[in-house]
Amino acid sequence: MKKVIWITGGGTGIGKAVAIEFANQGWNVAISGRRENILKEVEDNYPNIKAYPLDVNDKEKCFDVTKAIKKDFGDLDICFFSTGTWDPKKEREIDVEQIEKVFKVNFFGTLNCIKSVEDHFRNKRDGIITIVSSIAGYKGLPNSTGYGPSKAALNNLAESLYFDFGRYGVRVCLVSPGFIKTPMTDKNNFKMPFLKTPEYSANQIYDGLINKKSFEIHFPKQLTLILKFLKIIPDRLYFYLVGKLTKLQKK
Ligand SMILES: NC(=O)c1ccc[n+]([C@@H]2O[C@H](COP(=O)([O-])OP(=O)(O)OC[C@H]3O[C@@H](n4cnc5c(N)ncnc54)[C@H](OP(=O)(O)O)[C@@H]3O)[C@@H](O)[C@H]2O)c1
Repeated sequence: MKKVIWITGGGTGIGKAVAIEFANQGWNVAISGRRENILKEVEDNYPNIKAYPLDVNDKEKCFDVTKAIKKDFGDLDICFFSTGTWDPKKEREIDVEQIEKVFKVNFFGTLNCIKSVEDHFRNKRDGIITIVSSIAGYKGLPNSTGYGPSKAALNNLAESLYFDFGRYGVRVCLVSPGFIKTPMTDKNNFKMPFLKTPEYSANQIYDGLINKKSFEIHFPKQLTLILKFLKIIPDRLYFYLVGKLTKLQKK
């Protein structure tokens, strides 16, 4: 029987590229997102991709979609939770309502999806739950009052669940992309170092999920290794270097 992957955010960007990569590798692929027309377009081009429209903030619907995928395909082997929102213009201030919205999609939306597959994976005692985070979650960055903190929370959640699901033989995997050219980053008006394509990211993700066993899949290494180094240096040096690199102006 063909293996099955469920991808949220599967109608655009990284999620769509991962959907196509797995479909090309012979998997059955379920894709979710809010915009049905976009999902349908992907579905129409690949016989083994099927659309399951979903707003990840709708807890009940997350359970309905999980049930429908299992009914249609007979099983669920990998989840790839890739929904996310980022609005650079709104990240410069402490706009509490906006930050709540960001957390609602990035953190709680992902959590709703994980909750909906919890029993399935505990009973299956196999499979992978993938959480798409970001390098922005490693350490605090300037002008990132909602997005970075929401991704930092996801990183911590992924580590926590790694232990909890690990006891049942289920792998929890964290994906930390650098800059990838998608509708999300098309809004950025700054130079994005080592910008890569969604297809490049899909390739890295497929390899990391299927051929490797590590907890975190991060790319491109030219950028992520620098950021990992910045994570372990003393705070004073971190603030100095990142301030310089991002040309932070003192008020
Ligand atoms: N691109 C990068 O450089 C980069 C870097 C680091 C991390 N990431 C992370 O990678 C993931 C994918 O981002 P992307 O770059 O591929 O951007 P994207 O193309 O904008 O993808 C975001 C996806 O999330 C879906 N989505 C948003 N809100 C949703 C909701 N309430 N319910 C269901 N689906 C929802 C969107 O579809 P609908 O609008 O149709 O719902 C869209 O397909 C995100 O978690 C992002 O934070 C991206």
